[in-house]
Amino acid sequence: MQIAPSLLSADFGSLDRDIEMVNESDAALFHLDVMDGRFVPNISFGFPIIEAVSRKARKPLDVHLMIVEPDKWIDRLASIPGVEYMNVHLEACTHLHRTVQAIKAAGMKAAVTLNPATPVCLLEDIVADLDMVLLMSVNPGFGGQKFITRTLEKTRALRRLIDSTGSKALIEIDGGVNLQTGRQLAEAGADILVAGSFVFSAADPKATIAELARL
Ligand code: DX5
Ligand code: ZN
Repeated sequence: MQIAPSLLSADFGSLDRDIEMVNESDAALFHLDVMDGRFVPNISFGFPIIEAVSRKARKPLDVHLMIVEPDKWIDRLASIPGVEYMNVHLEACTHLHRTVQAIKAAGMKAAVTLNPATPVCLLEDIVADLDMVLLMSVNPGFGGQKFITRTLEKTRALRRLIDSTGSKALIEIDGGVNLQTGRQLAEAGADILVAGSFVFSAADPKATIAELARL
């Protein structure tokens, strides 16, 4: 299993230390949660932090934009070294096809995120163009929330949709991931697990990432 630790739960006063921990761990990606206080009821961080992480990270960045009008920021994000995935919410994009093509034209991989109440079938006509689909297993905005069990059925439905369309998209799940939910998600067909509080509140975060990666 690929693991993407979410820096939302890192200690921002010791960000260097936490970035280095992820560098040295079995994690595949850094997951960065950008919140604007409009699309979600919280504000996290923006470009200065993404750039700071980019300077120290030795693994690709997966940037999850919980913001309205993400199209405005495609070129700015693409200019930051190491940004591999630009993750936009389907619910925030009126012209999703155009946004996806623009992300790819800017040199990034295109990922689309669905909120818990958004059905997988809405991706039917775009999934072949995507590099990743992120299913939210909590309502976005905060770390440390409880996993919504319905996500397991959604993961299986997404796996079927991807396989039936010949899409190369990876399935990423975000929210409430721990060893128990992670194991269920692995069985359901997930490729990448985001984990915030479970990793950063652990006594040994690096060992916790290694355990998740073995799922
Ligand atoms: C929530 C964010 C998540 C969050 C996950 O809106 O998208 O990435 O950091 O946190 P945990 O793993 O604690 O649920
Ligand atoms: Zn996230």
